[in-house]
Amino acid sequence: MTNQIKWRSPSNIAIVKYWGKYGTQLPMNSSISFTLKNSFTETSILWQERTKDSAHEFFYNGMKADQFRKKIISFINSIEEELISLKQLSLQIDSVNNFPHSTGIASSASSMSALALCLVKMQEQTTSEKYDWCEFQTRASIVARLGSGSACRSVFPYCAQWGFHPQIPNSHQEYAIALESLLHNSFKEVADWIFIVNPNEKKVSSRAGHSLMENHPYREARISQAQQNCKLVYDALQQGDWELFIRVCEEEALSLHGLMMSSQPGYLLLEEDSIAIVKSIQQFRKESKIPVCFTIDAGPNIHILFPKTALDKVNDWAISQFPNYIKEGRIIKDEMGAGPVQLI
Ligand code: PMV
Repeated sequence: MTNQIKWRSPSNIAIVKYWGKYGTQLPMNSSISFTLKNSFTETSILWQERTKDSAHEFFYNGMKADQFRKKIISFINSIEEELISLKQLSLQIDSVNNFPHSTGIASSASSMSALALCLVKMQEQTTSEKYDWCEFQTRASIVARLGSGSACRSVFPYCAQWGFHPQIPNSHQEYAIALESLLHNSFKEVADWIFIVNPNEKKVSSRAGHSLMENHPYREARISQAQQNCKLVYDALQQGDWELFIRVCEEEALSLHGLMMSSQPGYLLLEEDSIAIVKSIQQFRKESKIPVCFTIDAGPNIHILFPKTALDKVNDWAISQFPNYIKEGRIIKDEMGAGPVQLI
């Protein structure tokens, strides 16, 4: 049997945002996301018996990456009780991202889910533990969550929910669940075009943002808003109610950034172009009656969501309103996807 494993795992875009956490990366509120297709990380693990001289190694895009190494190694050390095989092995981890990291496209979601999928498969191959597919996904989701909260949703195809919610069956604080089977036909093929307003690393990390929620003046109101919005999006996705979906999706994006602005200290990640794109997409929706809306993660970049049947019309809008983005290749044309794939 080979001592290598490789997974490709995609990023995801939250519709209802996870913002604020406690304990071992448990969410303050429940969240719902679409799993993407084209923005992904490929991670491989090569393992060998641990000796006293061997240490875990981490390569990012083929190079030793000290900026990520510390975080990855301390994450791996922290889950030795969860995955006991780790105690006997030393790992060489290679991770390749096909989109820019730290820009508000959730690179931690794809990278931590790819790593978690490798680690849980490795656990199966190096111990007597065997999981069926559902157990495997759940375990991978738990391990991914410990690396980065939002990563636990990337384990599932198309659409996932994370965090206990009294009106969402099987929902759980420690792992995400698949919502794919509940999706109405009109939510089965959704495009997500990401306008890269600024490709540079963002000034305030999500980690810092989550911790500012601990004493946030609107903390309790945010928790109840997000729990209500989760139920609304859960219903909209099943009923094919794009109008409701759009209302809640945009409210969530603006609330997330409102929470950042009203943190203590407050901060602003949106840029002029972020606001121009948001206003333009709302105007376009009003005039065209196409169900198209925006969402925003913790950064200045804008995600435009719409049913794939509207691809041509949205393309015409982008060409006429934001020709520089098209010319400079600053739009990532993504869509909902089928989730992670094992490559080796
Ligand atoms: O998983 P983290 O710690 O990078 O936090 C992600 C937070 C948001 O992307 C803003 C929202 C979400 O639910 O993905």
